[in-house]
Amino acid sequence: MLQNILLTRRWPQEIETKMTRLAQGRAALNFNNDDLPFTRDQLQEALQTSEILCPTVTDRIDGDMLSAPSVVTKLIANFGVGFNHIDMQVAKAQGIVVTNTPGVLTEATAEIALTLLLSVARRTGEGERLVRAGQWQGWNPTHMMSTQVTGKTLGIVGMGRIGLDMAQKAHFGLGMRIIYNNRSALPDEVADRLSATHVSLDELLASSDFVSLHCPATTETRHLINAEKLATMQPHSFLINTARGDVVDEVALVDALQQGVIAGAGLDVYEAEPALASGLVGLENVVILPHMGSGTRESRTRMGQCALDNILAFLDQEPLPNLVNVE
Ligand code: DGY
Repeated sequence: MLQNILLTRRWPQEIETKMTRLAQGRAALNFNNDDLPFTRDQLQEALQTSEILCPTVTDRIDGDMLSAPSVVTKLIANFGVGFNHIDMQVAKAQGIVVTNTPGVLTEATAEIALTLLLSVARRTGEGERLVRAGQWQGWNPTHMMSTQVTGKTLGIVGMGRIGLDMAQKAHFGLGMRIIYNNRSALPDEVADRLSATHVSLDELLASSDFVSLHCPATTETRHLINAEKLATMQPHSFLINTARGDVVDEVALVDALQQGVIAGAGLDVYEAEPALASGLVGLENVVILPHMGSGTRESRTRMGQCALDNILAFLDQEPLPNLVNVE
C-alpha cells in the first residue's frame, strides 16, 4: 500500500511539481490546498493518516499528540532548520524520525539579521514612515540622526552556521569587531580570520554595541535574554533576534525599550507568533519583521529540495541526509 505524505502548507511550486513526479507509484501526496495553518485537531488527524508528515515552524506538535495510540506517522520531514515546535523526546520514544533542512538558509537569515541591525541603527523604518506619512519637511543638520554601524562591536550569541555568516558579513562588510558566546570556540584559523574573541555571555552583553542572537531554542536558552540580562547591556546598544522568539523575554524587552535600558531592537521572531507582546508595535525604536529570515526564493526552494531529499531517502530506506533525532 502507498504511504501517505502530507504537506501542512504549500511549498515552492518547483518543489511540489518535482515531488509529485517523484512520488508517483511510491506514495500518495496530499496538499493543504487552502494553505491555511492547521488547527491542533487537523494536525492530530494528520498524524493518524500520514506516514510522512511535513510540517513547518507554525505547527506545534506536542508530546500528547505524538504519543496518541492511533499515530501512524513514521517520518516528520520538517520544512525548516529549527525543530523546537516538535517534542523531540517523545518523537524519539515513539520511534518517529525527524529531519530538518540545515545549511540552505544560512545566508538568507544572516542577511535579515544584518538588515535589522542596519535598519534599527540607522532608523530607516522611522524615516520611511515619516516620508510615507507626508511629514518630511526636508533636510536639516540635526534631522533623523542615528547610530553609525561601521567599526562598532558586534556580539554574536550562538556561533553556528548563521552566526558565523553574520559575523563574516559584519566584519568584512562593515569593519565590525566580533566577540561571540558559544558552547565551543571557533577553530583558531576561523577566529583569527575574523579577529573574533570568545567571551562569556555577561561580558558580551556588557561590551557589545549590537547583540545578535543565533542560538537554537532549547530549555536552556528560553528567556536567555531577560530583564536582568537586558540591564547589563549598554544604554546605546541594540538587540537583534532572528533565532527564536522564546530566547527573549518579550515583555521584559518591551519594558527595557520603553525605559531606555537599551537603544533599540530588530526582531524577526516572537514568542507567540504571529501575536506580538503588548506595546511592541507602538515603539519607534524597534524594527519588526514577520519571521522572514529564510524567505528568499533561493533559500525556500533549497529548503523544499532538502526536505524532499529526506523524504525520498526515507521511501528508499536509505540513510536520511538530515536526521535530527539520531540515536
Ligand atoms: C527555520 O528554518 O527554522 C526558519 O525559522 C523557518 O522555519
